[in-house]
Amino acid sequence: MKLSLSSDAIAEAVSPCVVVAVTEGGELSPSMAAADQATGGKLAQMLESRDINTSIGKTTLLHDLPGLAARRLLVIGLGKVEKLDAARWDRACLAAGKALRDHPVTECHLFAHDLAIDGVAPEWQLRQLALGLQRANYLYTSTKRRKDHAPQPLKEATFNQATGAEQALEQSRGMAAGYLKARLLGDLPPNICNPAYLAQEARAISERFDKVDLEVLEADDMAELGMDALLGVARGSSNAPKLIVLKYNGGASDERPVVLVGKGITFDSGGISIKGALHMDQMKMDMCGAAGMIGAFVACAELNLALNVICIVPAVENMPDGNAYRPGDVLTSMSGKTIEVLNTDAEGRLILCDALTYAERFNPRYLIDAATLTGACVVALGHHASGLMSNNDELANALLAAGDKSLDRAWRLPIWEEYSEQLETPFADLKNVGGMPAGAITAGYFLSEFAEDQAWAHLDVAGSAWKWGTTEGATGRPAGLLAQFLIDLSA
Ligand code: BES
Ligand code: MN
Ligand code: ZN
Repeated sequence: MKLSLSSDAIAEAVSPCVVVAVTEGGELSPSMAAADQATGGKLAQMLESRDINTSIGKTTLLHDLPGLAARRLLVIGLGKVEKLDAARWDRACLAAGKALRDHPVTECHLFAHDLAIDGVAPEWQLRQLALGLQRANYLYTSTKRRKDHAPQPLKEATFNQATGAEQALEQSRGMAAGYLKARLLGDLPPNICNPAYLAQEARAISERFDKVDLEVLEADDMAELGMDALLGVARGSSNAPKLIVLKYNGGASDERPVVLVGKGITFDSGGISIKGALHMDQMKMDMCGAAGMIGAFVACAELNLALNVICIVPAVENMPDGNAYRPGDVLTSMSGKTIEVLNTDAEGRLILCDALTYAERFNPRYLIDAATLTGACVVALGHHASGLMSNNDELANALLAAGDKSLDRAWRLPIWEEYSEQLETPFADLKNVGGMPAGAITAGYFLSEFAEDQAWAHLDVAGSAWKWGTTEGATGRPAGLLAQFLIDLSA
């Protein structure tokens, strides 16, 4: 999408659609007031008669208003003025993006960001508006023959000039690239998006950016490193596993990198502990941790951030087969710790533990993983927050802050050592399941055992990375949270 700036007044703006925002109660924004005046008070009348919906997240599209050069006026409802905050603004921006996406307009001119919100920085407000528009512009077509049902996407968005606007638009562009990359990877079917596909995708990224290098480890390389936990999971699939290592060199050569690790289970059948048939198709989303981390990595490269970042993706398919690993097996991880497998469906932690151990060689400044790790996290937090677990308060707080700022939010769960009892077994150093209580936490605790000497954090994105229901699909999260974290770190 082309993003540009303009200083045209709203009444004179020549565009298929101009966009403004209104609250319930409170004063009209400058652009809304100007448009009202140009139309001879028609907008105020329509607000009065409730023909314009001011509820949060609702939009009203008006046509051919007298006095406006633009053919259409889209009004974004922000709800009650006293309730308006950053989160509600963000919600309304996504709703506006969807409304534009669903209408056959390909260009628009936005004035909505001139509605000031208490305690909200205008640059941030504009960034979220531009980001919401670009995120909502996504439409999945990759595996559809008929692509002509949907209205045309937006091709060009012009924003009313504002302070710090260039940088806000630039940031939105980078973050949107991250979200959209993550979303598409998450939506692709598992017969296409398999471990080799993810490796190919990483190759394409490394070829697109000068500062990006790629290394892909094959099963033999992993065997040599002693990654028996990862290889155990991979054994039941005829799709060979890949360990993808993307390196972005934007900082000084001696600067310690931020290492991002993403769970890349391209399909999770459960393995021998096979899942039920209902919704098993959804387990194509089990690589959304990887997708989110790749997305954040792309955002970082797009924005040319002054940082070193490494993205590690263990890409594996979890399938049942004559060669598959079984409940009762004891695997020796790369760290040397042994793991008794009690359920082959708790496979994410097994591929991640070896990836975390592998990450140590890069001497990370921060080591962060993201994974669609547990159904228990969906039960605990639903779809609005990712579950955050960490052994480092400074890192945890920075991630929480980045989540709040990007509105790709996280909520912290404890990983007190008392939870370790649930992972004890007579037959190995650890077992891979901790039973019913606190399933998200025992999974996080398991991972912490492989990041003991690191400033480490884990994001369980099982609920946040995928949207259920009629608009089912990947969300692109947590690409936004991590992109924001990296932006703030490089500032
Ligand atoms: N990929 C799943 C977790 C998941 C569940 C993600 C639902 C998204 C939605 C993970 O590999 C898994 O199967 N976890 C098990 C762990 C259990 C066997 C300890 C779970 O959550 O039931
Ligand atoms: Mn599983
Ligand atoms: Zn899984």
